[in-house]
Amino acid sequence: MSGNELKYIEKVFESNYIAPLGEYVNKFEDSIKNYTGTKNALAVTSGTAAIHLALRVLGIDKGDDVLASTFTFIGSVNAILYQGANPVFIDSDKESWNLSPKLLNKYLCECDKKPKALIVTHLYGQCADIEKIANICNLHGVYLIEDAAESLGATYNGRHTGTFGDFGIYSFNGNKILTTSGGGMLVSPNKDWIDKAKFYSTQAKEPFIHYEHEEYGYNYRMSNVLAAIGVGQMEVIEERVQKKREIFKWYKEFLKNCDEVEFMPELDNSRGNRWLTAMIFKKSDYNEIMKALEQVNVESRPLWKPMHMQKLFKNNKAIVDGTSEELFKKGLCVASSTTMNKGDVQMICDVIKDNLI
Ligand SMILES: Cc1ncc(COP(=O)(O)O)c(C=O)c1O
Repeated sequence: MSGNELKYIEKVFESNYIAPLGEYVNKFEDSIKNYTGTKNALAVTSGTAAIHLALRVLGIDKGDDVLASTFTFIGSVNAILYQGANPVFIDSDKESWNLSPKLLNKYLCECDKKPKALIVTHLYGQCADIEKIANICNLHGVYLIEDAAESLGATYNGRHTGTFGDFGIYSFNGNKILTTSGGGMLVSPNKDWIDKAKFYSTQAKEPFIHYEHEEYGYNYRMSNVLAAIGVGQMEVIEERVQKKREIFKWYKEFLKNCDEVEFMPELDNSRGNRWLTAMIFKKSDYNEIMKALEQVNVESRPLWKPMHMQKLFKNNKAIVDGTSEELFKKGLCVASSTTMNKGDVQMICDVIKDNLI
């Protein structure tokens, strides 16, 4: 927490307005608009809900194909299933570890059935090659949804991730760079779409004094209490990004002579938020490193297991060239909390070095 969250929560309680609407919901949406430059924002219960609303508003339906990064967390793609649509997975490239524009373009040029949309993830807070990806989507008439759940504060050519597509989403889940304990934000340059998403997020109530329904909706709106936490958190977002980037720099500094270690790259003209420092080991077994870190009470985790490798998606189409499988086999994300200091990172790096081949 940054310090002001409790004060804002108290204000919410004083107002006796703890419903899923109120002053702080509006303030939180405004702070995201001011920070990212997006025109329209809707605070919701989670990043997953935000993706679901985007798909619903875009009319994604049963049997439609929706492209998605395979190297991601399942929260990116579950909502495709909620709509009865088929995820089609695209592999990463080596330059960004995120979705490959080349594979995307090749698939769109050759496929028989045109996908309706693409959900591209900016994984671990690092930018995908988003300008190229947006151009390809434009060219082929495919809607673009940016999963910026992990990348609030990351920019490409000075523009925030989440603002290049038809929709962008952010997550404020407990482990994110900024948290409301649970929550999400849907953003779009299109006001009508955000208005429609708001309608669906509040049970699709028609504008009558009595309760009138022509369509089904969801209960996805963020509560005023959680939005108050979000407003407090947004006051320190830039500090958080700077600290995360500093932590990454320390890792890089302490492991600079280790040829065995390769870090998640950063594309030219981009600034990732380095939400989690992610690295691969060329020959060393990451399980050994993970165990050794556990011994000193430090958590680390394998990189996300690609979606096309999950049993759940064994029958789904995947356009892959082995890149994300290789990353999954070789990679770890390491402790990156903004409460860490340089000494903590040095200790972790000493353990890593002791366990390299
Ligand atoms: C890449 C990615 N997409 C989507 C989500 C889903 O967000 P939420 O947990 O807020 O539903 C998360 C995080 O949890 C995520 O890391």
